[in-house]
Amino acid sequence: MSTSEETPKPTFVQPKPYKVDLEAGKAYYWCACGESKTQPFCDGSHKGTGIKPKKIVVEESKTYFLCGCKYTHNELGFCDGVHRKEEGIRKYNEFLLKANSSLKQENEAALNEQSELKNKLKAAERKQKIANIVAVLSTALIAVGIAAKFAHTYSKH
Ligand code: FES
Repeated sequence: MSTSEETPKPTFVQPKPYKVDLEAGKAYYWCACGESKTQPFCDGSHKGTGIKPKKIVVEESKTYFLCGCKYTHNELGFCDGVHRKEEGIRKYNEFLLKANSSLKQENEAALNEQSELKNKLKAAERKQKIANIVAVLSTALIAVGIAAKFAHTYSKH
């Protein structure tokens, strides 16, 4: 049986934790959705993802390791080593496949653009050739006109 509301999945960020210095008593918000541009902390980008940040307040000021893959089972977002386990490795593979596929698409788009530019360049070269021929013909016509005028002038004398 399928449910209409599936648990939202975070976006994989990196296959290792973030090493951060946290101050005792200060509130931090760990990004749980993976969309923040200020990892590992929330920047509000989770809006619409159905995922909310986790509030962290530590009792001791020291260095901590916050989850970077976003698949930790720790309730506050601390690294639990899942990125080295089968589940984390599977998510990393999915992330790499997705990244590879979007790179492929970008590459194809760039190749199409390059091909269009080549066609435009060929068309411009053709126009340039025609313009050159017209210029040569115009010069020749002018020369013929001048020659005819001279011939006419000399024939009068
Ligand atoms: S931006 Fe990811 S939880 Fe807020």
